[in-house]
Amino acid sequence: MIAAPAPGATWQHRHVLDVDVFSAADIDLVMRTADEMKEILARPIPKVPALRGTSVTIIFWEASTRTRVSFEVAAKNLSADVVNIAAGTSSVVKGESLVDTIRTVEALGADMIVMRHSVSGAPYLAAEVFGGPVLNGGDGWHGHPTQALLDLYTMRARLGDVAGRKVVILGDILHSRVARSNIWTLTAMGADLWLCGPTTLLRGFDAWATRWADGRAAPGHGRFTVTSDIDAALRDAEVVMALRLQRERMDAGLLPSLREYSARFGLTRERLAAARPDALVMHPGPMNEGVEIAADVAVLDRSVILDQVANGVAVRMALLYLLSGGHPEGMSGG
Ligand code: CP
Repeated sequence: MIAAPAPGATWQHRHVLDVDVFSAADIDLVMRTADEMKEILARPIPKVPALRGTSVTIIFWEASTRTRVSFEVAAKNLSADVVNIAAGTSSVVKGESLVDTIRTVEALGADMIVMRHSVSGAPYLAAEVFGGPVLNGGDGWHGHPTQALLDLYTMRARLGDVAGRKVVILGDILHSRVARSNIWTLTAMGADLWLCGPTTLLRGFDAWATRWADGRAAPGHGRFTVTSDIDAALRDAEVVMALRLQRERMDAGLLPSLREYSARFGLTRERLAAARPDALVMHPGPMNEGVEIAADVAVLDRSVILDQVANGVAVRMALLYLLSGGHPEGMSGG
């Protein structure tokens, strides 16, 4: 059985396009539903019939390992039928539009769509034309909602409540959809969030933080600090999440050189010493070891990078389940 959610907790979202529209109660419901999914995943046969008869179509226009595979595993664990479409082998290469592709997969029986696209906002367009739920597996620079939720889940599993805890996101903030979605979830849950990187890779975020401090752009009650002072950022941090330098999205001239970036902002053991002794090390992946994170830091005992990957399955099961509108009390395990 999947236990019923706490009284009063209801899910009212049709899609998962980003987490900016999720209240703290919504996020908490996802976390608790993911706890139920973790229990299922611990069973010898981690499968329940929650989505039996539901067809989940996974369309990725951009490369992915973790997100695509964990959505597929999650959907199969819920007994959904899964169809995978790689844009490179679909009629997209013949010029078919996003809208035509979405209408086509709907005509082929898709009940839910999971998608990744290089263009920010593409899942919102898909949600306008598709009759069922759309889950965003990452769109351009804009958002990666399921990554932010699994990051939060991983922090809570180790630290409990994140309220008041100092969480540092370090690196290429400018091009990061992961950072943007994490801002919403972490501040909604009351974390003391610090964004740190070279000034060229923080462009626009300082203005956001100023509006935030003025109370003009604060969706949550957490703190939100933007700085290039890595020593101040890491001091007494309880979580340090390094981000990949996203060179595929980067204009020339933003960084003097990779070597200088790594020397000034790479997460090394020496730098990490400024954080709490038990500070969690995180990275959404894929990692460029030796650039944004030293190889020996990525494998420290307190690194939870592989926990993030594993927790992605439970969190994505929770989201698929909540979007399916099923009633937990009516379900039986299998
Ligand atoms: N974190 C993340 O989105 O990884 P993938 O690109 O491998 O899905």
